[in-house]
Amino acid sequence: MRRPDLSGCAALVTGGARGLGAGVAAALAEAGAAVVVADVREDLGRATADALKQTGAIATFVRLDVTDDASWERAVGETIGELGGLDVVVNNAGVWISGLLADLDPAEVRRMLDVNVLGTALGIKHAFRAMRPGGPAGNGGAVVNIASAAATVALPGIAGYSATKSAVDRLTRVAATEAGKLGYDVRVNCVYPGLEPTAQGTRLTTDAVVFLASDAARFVTGAGLPVEGGLDT
Ligand SMILES: NC(=O)c1ccc[n+]([C@@H]2O[C@H](COP(=O)([O-])OP(=O)(O)OC[C@H]3O[C@@H](n4cnc5c(N)ncnc54)[C@H](O)[C@@H]3O)[C@@H](O)[C@H]2O)c1
Repeated sequence: MRRPDLSGCAALVTGGARGLGAGVAAALAEAGAAVVVADVREDLGRATADALKQTGAIATFVRLDVTDDASWERAVGETIGELGGLDVVVNNAGVWISGLLADLDPAEVRRMLDVNVLGTALGIKHAFRAMRPGGPAGNGGAVVNIASAAATVALPGIAGYSATKSAVDRLTRVAATEAGKLGYDVRVNCVYPGLEPTAQGTRLTTDAVVFLASDAARFVTGAGLPVEGGLDT
């Protein structure tokens, strides 16, 4: 299959400083996109963006706390200023805290709701406002949300996390519908990784994200793509 080509695209990846987000940023850059690594971890984020630059990519770091509306406003403005547009937002930043329901800690669940659910919802909000017709980027685009196999599979010890990732799945569907009905020209999809955090596992997910961000998926919106080797079958 022809590899998706993202030349000329500007992409922002939340939680891009490390882990899966850093892998997504690298894969988007490899496909030709200019990339903003957006994260609360400033030193790590700058190092990740610098490493991408070493490969010849256009990459930069922007500080972003996904739970903060004003931080999004600033980060998107800086991204458009630095890269000249915004075509792809990957809502990857997420927190995983496991625990049995009988031992549920409200603070831990609130933290996951804040980062995983509110953070993704704000990412969609600011992507829409920037990319829709008349927005400061204004050329439409694609949002890819990183859910998890935990959104669809029931396993002991991950109730709070599962609930937040199911919410990411529903956010994706509603966002795709709003964008379609309101003529934003923005596609919204999600992936459900079930990966072990290895280089190979990361690559499987990043390939799916690049596909959903690209024109190869131009008629795909409101979809959730499992990348978990059949875990949920
Ligand atoms: N690793 C896995 O096996 C796996 C499996 C399924 C889904 N996921 C999902 O993939 C995403 C990335 O997971 P990971 O394992 O790479 O996590 P990680 O903890 O290695 O990295 C998460 C990144 O998000 C950043 N971050 C956290 N809170 C933030 C905030 N408020 N604002 C901006 N950035 C913030 C962190 O600084 C970090 O750089 C998460 O959404 C996770 O739920 C991971």
